[in-house]
Amino acid sequence: MDNVKIPTHVGIIMDGNGRWANLKGKERSFGHKEGSANVERVVEYAFNRGVKSLTLYAFSTENWARPKKEVDELMRLLKIYFTKFIKKIANNGIRLKVIGDVSVLTPELKKVIEKGEAKTQNNLEHTLNIAINYGGRQEIVHAVNELLKDGKQITIESISKALYTADCGEPDLIIRTGGEFRLSNFLLYQGAYSELYFTDVLWPDFNGEQLEKAFAEYGARNRRFGKI
Ligand code: IPE
Ligand code: IPE
Ligand code: MG
Repeated sequence: MDNVKIPTHVGIIMDGNGRWANLKGKERSFGHKEGSANVERVVEYAFNRGVKSLTLYAFSTENWARPKKEVDELMRLLKIYFTKFIKKIANNGIRLKVIGDVSVLTPELKKVIEKGEAKTQNNLEHTLNIAINYGGRQEIVHAVNELLKDGKQITIESISKALYTADCGEPDLIIRTGGEFRLSNFLLYQGAYSELYFTDVLWPDFNGEQLEKAFAEYGARNRRFGKI
């Protein structure tokens, strides 16, 4: 276990909450609740293991198309997460950053996010990016518009630097739980050379042991970046 190569920046598409609950004969919201509790566990495990930055996909720009009741529940859980864990995040040297278009979130949610980001802004050890109302295409468009506004040239590098995750570098490993083989609009630009790891394990069941499996596979991959 100790020879395992640990990726610097890990992205996770936390999928499968609804199916996890349905398999137990419960409502989808039960899965979201357990899924949000699992975020805390996996964050702690990954950072203790030496991961420097973690980018978690919590709510996509497409997820607004779900029934209002489910969207409201997800937003409620996010608010609880930020309120409940910010102290722990702050005390563990983690800088919290919410990525995506937060302008449309409720004032209450925006407030806890701003508070959490402000409280942790000087933490340098780890970065926790939580993607809310995030889409990879929207992120690229946003980056290009920022550059145009500042009269800057549009280049591969300038776009890279204008992305939400710029200071974390590109993700070395992107994990998707829940059995689907797609990116669903996650980290499209910075994921160009990420190693992809897919597992059938549903998000609420994804734990340290599962993360070790992903790291082991990551360590065994040969990253060529186009070379031979
Ligand atoms: C992931 O679980 C959480 C979000 C997308 C917000 P899902 O809610 O997509 O669960 P499944 O994929 O329907 O099981
Ligand atoms: C991706 O999961 C988004 C998040 C995990 C936040 P979805 O469940 O929304 O993805 P699709 O619809 O299966 O592609
Ligand atoms: Mg899903």
